[in-house]
Amino acid sequence: MNALELNALHKTFGNVTALDHVNLSVPAGSRTAIVGPSGSGKTTLLRMIAGFEFPDTGSIQLSGQTLVDATTQVPAHQRLIGYVPQDGALFPHMTVAGNIGFGLPGTAASKQQRIAELMEMVALETRMANRWPHELSGGQQQRVALARALAQRPRLMLLDEPFSALDTGLRATLRKRVATLLSEAGITTVLVTHDQAEALSFADQLAVMRQGRLVQAGQPMDLYLRPVDTQTALFLGDAVVMPAQVDGGWATCDLGRIPVNNPDHRGAADIMLRPEQLQVVPDTRDSRHVNGCLGVITDRDFGGNVCTLTVELHPQVCAVSGQTTHRSLLVRSSGLGAPPTGSTVHISTLGDAHVLDTSSEHRR
Ligand SMILES: Nc1ncnc2c1ncn2[C@@H]1O[C@H](COP(=O)(O)OP(=O)(O)OP(=O)(O)O)[C@@H](O)[C@H]1O
Ligand SMILES: [Mg+2]
Repeated sequence: MNALELNALHKTFGNVTALDHVNLSVPAGSRTAIVGPSGSGKTTLLRMIAGFEFPDTGSIQLSGQTLVDATTQVPAHQRLIGYVPQDGALFPHMTVAGNIGFGLPGTAASKQQRIAELMEMVALETRMANRWPHELSGGQQQRVALARALAQRPRLMLLDEPFSALDTGLRATLRKRVATLLSEAGITTVLVTHDQAEALSFADQLAVMRQGRLVQAGQPMDLYLRPVDTQTALFLGDAVVMPAQVDGGWATCDLGRIPVNNPDHRGAADIMLRPEQLQVVPDTRDSRHVNGCLGVITDRDFGGNVCTLTVELHPQVCAVSGQTTHRSLLVRSSGLGAPPTGSTVHISTLGDAHVLDTSSEHRR
């Protein structure tokens, strides 16, 4: 049974449509990440699930119980949902220990023990227990808020950018630790993040929002490789998008002939490849036996273990427009073996290209 069901949730604030008929199923015990540009409705959606906002129309069910619909409104404190808001929102008149232990049952000693465990879980030193919220950094406040929500052993956990104020190392460590903790406890989780890599690695299900609409939801890898449209493709990472003629499972484009992952498609279409699907090798007589095309490296952005190359393709006649095109592409290469700027390279592709949907339905 699905833990959380959102059905046609709609919400306007004045003339702003914050949520536009959003449907989403979150399986029990799973982790869903919601991504989308600023103002796309992510926080509104979490606040609605938590019970701090109510929809104009639509309904929410959790483990078969209706939390809200046209006739029902279960108040927030009866939902047994943990919510870590975007700003942490700690109680300012309580210490760290007071915030985490708020509402915990048991004796003073057992509470103290549990608070210490929770602080350890979120990588906070126990000596911080007596500090006040205004004496903490933004990242420490976020971790106290997370510990406070975990303390309640909720049946559903809602996290609104809980790691945004942490440095990269701590962020990755805490993300892994929290993911393990939540899945061991079987707590269904919905996480909002601005960090696409975080969403892709944290979640079983990824949902992309834009202008109040949920434009695509599915397995992270599926969304990364099969985004519904160009905007979604670019939102989830760098992408090479170019026009192609598609027929019989193959796309003919400036990069040569490439197999496509949706072979039913026919005719002119935009195709997408991720930069790591492109391979560049110095141009030699041997390299020209491989399907692909030639280009010149015009920029080399060294990023440590990965180097991002800008490759300008040799001008050629476009298979779609019939016009001569001058196209440049981003390609990822290992930081060590990347060809130098100015060199001529042969570009080939790995795996399938994805045919993008350019119907008006997805253009918003
Ligand atoms: N209480 C409110 N009154 C009026 N407008 C609101 C209110 N809450 C949200 N909005 C508007 O609804 C839209 C969605 O806001 P929301 O906070 O859900 O976006 P978000 O996706 O969380 O953005 P961010 O990534 O910046 O946190 C925005 O246009 C916002 O200005
Ligand atoms: Mg927000």
